[in-house]
Amino acid sequence: MKKTNPKNLVVLVSGGGSNMAAIMESIDRGEINGEIKAVISSNAEAYALTRAHERGIPAYVCARADYENGAERDREILRICREARADYVLLAGYLGILSGFFIEAYPNKIVNIHPALLPKFGGKGFFGIHVHEAVLAAGETESGATVHFVGGGIDDGAIIAQGKVEVLQGDTPEELQKRVLCNVEHKLFPQVVGLLCADKVKIKDGKVVIDNNISKE
Ligand code: GRF
Repeated sequence: MKKTNPKNLVVLVSGGGSNMAAIMESIDRGEINGEIKAVISSNAEAYALTRAHERGIPAYVCARADYENGAERDREILRICREARADYVLLAGYLGILSGFFIEAYPNKIVNIHPALLPKFGGKGFFGIHVHEAVLAAGETESGATVHFVGGGIDDGAIIAQGKVEVLQGDTPEELQKRVLCNVEHKLFPQVVGLLCADKVKIKDGKVVIDNNISKE
């Protein structure tokens, strides 16, 4: 079915890209009025690149080591996003820190998924398995994931939606990571992208207002 004015999406990745795959499948099911125009990876070995190639989506590697500095790399990422006429930039497991000029170029258009219930367990050092190790070490009884707009700092910016899972007795960090990824992230991120592409997410007085029944709890 032909979409009406689909939003252009650019996805930034660093690893497996299972969140990106969940978004692709949701697009396939017609739940998201958007198209992934480009995939940019900070890591040449990322399996996410294979997923993009399999679908014939233009894929780029912008690895920090290939540039003079982070700003040079981000100028290239900005060039690709502009060329793709990106409406939204989705950080789906992207491990780089984007320069201020890039964030300013896409105000409230850059969206990240974080595998914890922000503002807890976010910021410097809270990435990958370390997040889940910290959640278990703190004795939390629940964890989850947060989809948020990217602000000036790490893992800050207005929260769009959160989903929770129980922390079970004897959980290992890997078990908790898998539960958060499969039970929350793979559903929550596509759901939020669907709302964004339907223009149902607004910011009023710095707060996210969603024109739907998705919950922030
Ligand atoms: C996810 O847990 C995401 O929340 C975090 O990085 C992980 C990426 O996984 N930011 P994948 O590459 O989408 O499989």
